[in-house]
Amino acid sequence: MAGPETYELRRGKYAKIDAAVDDETPTRLSFDSSTSSYEDLEEFDPLNYDAGTLKQKRSHGDLRARKASHKLERYSEKPQQRRRRCVPTKLCCGLVLLFVASTVLLLSAGGIWAWKSEPMYGQSPPWYPAPKGGTVKEWEESYKKAEALVKQMTLVEKVNITSGTGWSMQMCVGNTGPVPRLKFPALCLQDGPLGIRFADNITAFPAGITVGATWNKDLMYQRGRAHGKEARLKGIHILLGPAMGPLGRIPAGGRNWEGFGTDPVLQGAAAAQTIRGIQDEGVMATAKHYLLNEQEHFRQAWEWGTPNAISSNIDDRTTHEIYAWPFAESVRAGVASVMCSYNQVNNSYACQNSKLMNGILKDELGFQGFIQSDWLAQRSGVASALAGLDMTMPGDGLKWADGKSLWGTQLTKAVLNGSVPVDRVDDMVTRIVASWYQLGQDDTEKWPLQPPDGDGGPNFSSWTDEEIGLLHPGSNDKTKGVVNKFINVQGEGDDAHGKIVRKVAAEGTVLLKNDDGLLPLDRKGWKESEKAGKDMKYRVGIFGEDSRISRDGVNACTDQGCNDGTLASGWGSGAVNLPYLIEPLDTLRKGFNEESVYVTDWPQNVLPKEKKGILEDQDVCIVFANADAGEGYMRYESIRGDRNDLFLQKGSEELVQDVAKGCGGGNGKVIVVIHTVGPVILENWIDLPTVKAVLIANLPGQESGNSLADIIFGDTNPSGHLPYTIARKAEDYGPGSKVLFYPNGLVPQQNFSEGLYIDYRYFDKKDIAPRYEFGYGLSYTTFHLSSLLITTHGPKTPLPAPRPSGLQPPSYSTEVPDPKTALLPKGFKKLSKYIYPYIDSTDGLEKAKVQAAVLPSPLSPAGGAQGGNPDLYTTILTVSCTLTNTGPVGGSSVVQLYISFPQKHMNEAGEHIDFPVKVLRGFEKHHLKGKTDQGGDRQTVKFEVSRKDLSYWDTRKQNWVLPHMGEFGIKVGFSSRDLPLEGTW
Ligand code: BGC
Ligand code: BGC
Repeated sequence: MAGPETYELRRGKYAKIDAAVDDETPTRLSFDSSTSSYEDLEEFDPLNYDAGTLKQKRSHGDLRARKASHKLERYSEKPQQRRRRCVPTKLCCGLVLLFVASTVLLLSAGGIWAWKSEPMYGQSPPWYPAPKGGTVKEWEESYKKAEALVKQMTLVEKVNITSGTGWSMQMCVGNTGPVPRLKFPALCLQDGPLGIRFADNITAFPAGITVGATWNKDLMYQRGRAHGKEARLKGIHILLGPAMGPLGRIPAGGRNWEGFGTDPVLQGAAAAQTIRGIQDEGVMATAKHYLLNEQEHFRQAWEWGTPNAISSNIDDRTTHEIYAWPFAESVRAGVASVMCSYNQVNNSYACQNSKLMNGILKDELGFQGFIQSDWLAQRSGVASALAGLDMTMPGDGLKWADGKSLWGTQLTKAVLNGSVPVDRVDDMVTRIVASWYQLGQDDTEKWPLQPPDGDGGPNFSSWTDEEIGLLHPGSNDKTKGVVNKFINVQGEGDDAHGKIVRKVAAEGTVLLKNDDGLLPLDRKGWKESEKAGKDMKYRVGIFGEDSRISRDGVNACTDQGCNDGTLASGWGSGAVNLPYLIEPLDTLRKGFNEESVYVTDWPQNVLPKEKKGILEDQDVCIVFANADAGEGYMRYESIRGDRNDLFLQKGSEELVQDVAKGCGGGNGKVIVVIHTVGPVILENWIDLPTVKAVLIANLPGQESGNSLADIIFGDTNPSGHLPYTIARKAEDYGPGSKVLFYPNGLVPQQNFSEGLYIDYRYFDKKDIAPRYEFGYGLSYTTFHLSSLLITTHGPKTPLPAPRPSGLQPPSYSTEVPDPKTALLPKGFKKLSKYIYPYIDSTDGLEKAKVQAAVLPSPLSPAGGAQGGNPDLYTTILTVSCTLTNTGPVGGSSVVQLYISFPQKHMNEAGEHIDFPVKVLRGFEKHHLKGKTDQGGDRQTVKFEVSRKDLSYWDTRKQNWVLPHMGEFGIKVGFSSRDLPLEGTW
């Protein structure tokens, strides 16, 4: 049995393990600061990807077994094992020989270009040293407390907090080591962002894209709050959401649906509201993925066969004005954590990119929390530490679940041998501990102490649905305990989270077309105006697989990794097990009055042979269709994360056309309902005369049927607006909008050459007519805008006030500790593959090297507070107008503010600065009652426009500059192409 101190530093809440195995060999990775070392990867097996996903596809069946099997199977089947199996087969040998031979041939035949053309590592500018946390007023108290606690910690205790314990070593998808001596807990990190992943009795909220489509800031907050509460009640300290990258540059991008839409202002507002909601419940939110992980193909090293992840190559201005913008809003909202992404940015991995982490996030945006890596996105030890990474997740290093961390022991060594300065590790830990205090997680009422002092910590297991399960399933330790307490966190009565789900999903449903006012339908069938001479029942036909739930059960596929039945979310780590799923077909059927309405259904995508009959007999046909996508570690049929095209899937493209042609013998009325992860091309059928109404129901979550029925029967007046543009054809999104499906070099390169011109900015620039523009959405009523008023608060000055100086961050002794204090305590039994902070010997560590002094990078003039220089958020303009409901029914309207920058602006160097035709800068949603005899209900709508809203990123000045000469255009309306009010400033 280990001594008290060793006991304390065991990871996790279940530290009482005696059956531990001591088998750890030190990692082979050296700790130089070179950017990436791949000596560990010669065992890579290109079959890895396919073997994993195929296996997963087969693993349907029992949910409980699957929960355990997915995570363990996929990663317990190591490349080595697979290869061993592979060797005896002739085919395999043949393939290997063929591969070697063709490589030799290719290289000798001039293919050497492939190696030569590999871009130089690190085309991203350096930014050192890492800025310290503790510089802003809002975090002052938390940093004081953190300083006092961290001062008492030893080096190994500090390292323990920065390093994950390894994949599936504890209950959550990510877990850090505790410092029980000081009652600092093991932190539990769990996905997010639409519900609690791998957990029971939780809520499956609508996905981010649906939330974006509501344009309702209050609902964004409420959903975040309910999500945060569920996390807290499950014992989760850090929720892995919201996602605000990918932003949607590529419409087919596999994970766009996790975020809120293809515009930085919409994305930023929704992210900030979600974060406020989550954090008001005392849970740390994570703004992810930082930055530019815009497609799934090649997102990670090796996942797609290439030894390196894709590089998103981008200019400084676009980074600031588009992709970093939502992160700035998140930091401004006080987000506790940011997750750096898998990909490279300008040929430097995002998780070791000093410009992105030290420079933009910590210095310029004044981020006070901690940066965690995406799962295995860390590709170096020292380099990532110096570039600003604060926590490695899940702890394993270059390969899944191998227990060979780039930090843990290695970070301890790096500090002891002087490769990483002591004050960097101190800053990492202080940032994490301060975040913990900032969210009030030291309150033992809400966060009971963990074993052995109490029974706090996560009360569910990601790895099994059984009550009793392995405590450290990733190791070979067989100790079991109670791992699932099945706490119901869904809320009750008025507080039932399902109510929020239903509201968000209904408000996030976009009505694209409603000819002849077909919608809403009357539950009793014929509308008053149609009744004359109709004595037959009203006949409704419901078509399409997407109208019903999966026959294998709603959680038949792990992480929702298949498109089966009605689509409620995309797939991947951002999906959850649905507690239930309200079926659209059933809800609609029950919604109609049986006496007067006759409902027929054909919930499949292929119509019966005798299709004429089933179609001909209908007055109205409701046809369901969908398009799915997800995270790149899984594939469904030929879709490997990113969609292959923008059409409806699984034959629903043809189904919609067939129904449209045959409904009512060509005289029927057709309603098309689409559940989708993003924009779909509608051209094959949208103009067919029978297609009267189209609803984009996005990804509704568990209340799917109810929220849809609310809209179809008119209990809720539709008020969703598109959070992206729907083009007439995929090419209209521009050359930059394409997924890179095949590697174009050893390090796949993706140039963001279109710069600022994505989505509506591109359509505007090229004057392309979209089918439905960004911000578009119909209602059952009509609204009118009038009385535009623009009020200026002060003169047009180009630059914000000088950066204010910040508070003094905590300071600690910079002395390198005695290596002996970091030794593995005598008698300590390690668990296999578990990640510890200890060193096995002090050899070679006696004397710390003197570190070369780094010439500090200049501080950004755009910094000085959370979200950047506070003066950037000073209101410069107030824009107001009057909104009137001119129709007979009540409804909500989304009023949008767009700004056009002066078109002839030159910077100080005389260079012309190009601006998009217009950019979204604000939106407000208001509910107005229907028109009465006294006239329409009206309300004043107000926008506060900040300095940042009116500025562009000047790459020479490295600051936000407001073009003070020339005229701004101020436009207010209902979509990016329907802007009835215009003014200038
Ligand atoms: C995803 C993250 C997720 C993490 C943990 C990663 O692969 O990219 O979004 O939070 O896994 O599940
Ligand atoms: C894990 C995810 C992670 C992904 C990374 C999955 O198996 O469950 O959390 O996002 O692997 O590739």
